[in-house]
Amino acid sequence: MSSLRHIAIIMDGNGRWGLKKRNNRNFGHKKGVEVVEKIIEHCIKKNIRFLTLFTFSTENWKRPKKEINYLFSLLENFLKKKISQIHKQEVCIKFIGEKKNLKKTLLSSINYSEKLTKNNKKIQVNIAFNYGSKNEILNTANILKKKKLRFTEKNFENNLFTKNIPNPEILIRTGNTKRLSNFMLWQLAYTEIFFEKKMWPDFNTNDFNKIINKYHKITRKFGNIDGK
Ligand code: IPE
Ligand code: IPE
Ligand code: MG
Repeated sequence: MSSLRHIAIIMDGNGRWGLKKRNNRNFGHKKGVEVVEKIIEHCIKKNIRFLTLFTFSTENWKRPKKEINYLFSLLENFLKKKISQIHKQEVCIKFIGEKKNLKKTLLSSINYSEKLTKNNKKIQVNIAFNYGSKNEILNTANILKKKKLRFTEKNFENNLFTKNIPNPEILIRTGNTKRLSNFMLWQLAYTEIFFEKKMWPDFNTNDFNKIINKYHKITRKFGNIDGK
């Protein structure tokens, strides 16, 4: 069985789901948060050490202001309401992405959640928020230049938002769309990718288990001719 430490998810399809059910995209975002909670609990049970969730991309700023505000308040309220429970579950929360240009109250909830949970060891949940992979790679190049470090793979890895986090073995994208949308382009170089037809609010632990079972049947070769 291949090792499995890190699962990354592009949680796509909330808007379409909400439109279909209630003629309201934001209804889908609200439902999506419930699925996030279930999936985190399930990963704890399955002993997955790292879970990364794409919640807002640097390109999502192009959306109508009303939807952006809703998404931001959803995150802020989630952190405010759930952080003590998350802490009790020994979950470590880490944000990856730009912390610039965020509302003060949201930023302080983010910083508080990270600080409170930083020593928790059950699972690390990385929330990719205001995250874009090209932005991350360019930032990293600038950091290396400033630190006068050479452009090596190791130096890049040690200065990405994901420093100290192993690359994901599995990427799941729900929402019946087959693209990466500027998500973890460096870290996904050798990741097994699973595109799921279901919209994120319909995704469940059974779908999740099916993907993990499929993953364990794959021979990962990393350029070699066999899996050794
Ligand atoms: C993903 O769902 C969540 C975010 C991007 C915040 P979408 O909002 O992209 O849903 P669809 O793809 O429009 O259905
Ligand atoms: C990717 O989904 C971003 C998140 C899930 C947060 P999008 O819905 O924004 O991606 P595109 O625009 O369809 O590529
Ligand atoms: Mg989408």
